[in-house]
Amino acid sequence: MRAEKVTIHTLQKKKAASDKITMLTCYDATFARLLDDAGIDVLLVGDSLGMVVQGHSTTLPVTLDEIIYHTRAVVRGTQRAQVVGDMPFMSYQTSVDEAMRSAGRLIKEGGAEAVKLEGGAQHAELVRRLVATGIPVMGHIGLTPQSVHQMGGFKVQGRDHDTARRLVEDARALEHAGAYALVLEGIPLELAREITDAIAIPTIGIGAGPHCDGQVLVIYDLLGMNEDFKPRFVKRYENLSLRIRTAVDEYIDEVRSSRFPSEDESFTQSQKSAGAPRKVATVSALALAGGCAPLPGGADDAAFYSTAKKD
Ligand code: KIV
Repeated sequence: MRAEKVTIHTLQKKKAASDKITMLTCYDATFARLLDDAGIDVLLVGDSLGMVVQGHSTTLPVTLDEIIYHTRAVVRGTQRAQVVGDMPFMSYQTSVDEAMRSAGRLIKEGGAEAVKLEGGAQHAELVRRLVATGIPVMGHIGLTPQSVHQMGGFKVQGRDHDTARRLVEDARALEHAGAYALVLEGIPLELAREITDAIAIPTIGIGAGPHCDGQVLVIYDLLGMNEDFKPRFVKRYENLSLRIRTAVDEYIDEVRSSRFPSEDESFTQSQKSAGAPRKVATVSALALAGGCAPLPGGADDAAFYSTAKKD
């Protein structure tokens, strides 16, 4: 039986029941399928893709077309989770009309079910217009990476009294404008608890301590895919950079020594007509399956390529 689709109402009910919300970033269909099957509540196509996928040092260069492209891929791999598209830098800051068009493209062309935007009370009017148009909005306050130059770096926000008060006011303004959830990034845990208690919509924290209604991490950080990046707020649940390197080292070694492909991974004319099964395994699938053990099952000749679930 197919699990029920996560909507803004699911998240609201989770907050009311003190049931933690789980959210991860996601940028492609393969990861979407894995995370969705695992039961994640929300997949965020974050502009963090500019850093972890594209290799930039900030999120600022990411374009709306790029977010739409990745959102379409994530939507194809998702059945249950809510898919949220991030509004990239300068796709919503110039005017409300421009922002409405950008959000509309994320929903119409990307297939996102909600949009996320950074900033507080200054975007209240925009949030009101989007919600009135039927586009759910997730807010994002605290450390807002699109303002990295204004903040003087990726720094924890809200440590002093005045900025802490302003962040509480921003949270209230976004709730009042109709936002259905709020990302709290890079703020002290006491402030995150105060905001979580002060508003009725769910808060989803990253570097904001344990008292939020949910948590979000960048999937590449959780999986330990960049060994040079280990900030305090990240917990690595895997060390995939090591696993991938080990798998690729082994592949290189086996190709160079002519141990791969063996007959097991090859096709012969006689077996073609008999339809004998042949294992097909990609390096990334091996890494995610936990090393170099054979994958269960294996595809036969007729199913050489896997097929996507959606167009
Ligand atoms: O772009 C992103 O991935 C984000 C999350 C870290 C919240 O905004």
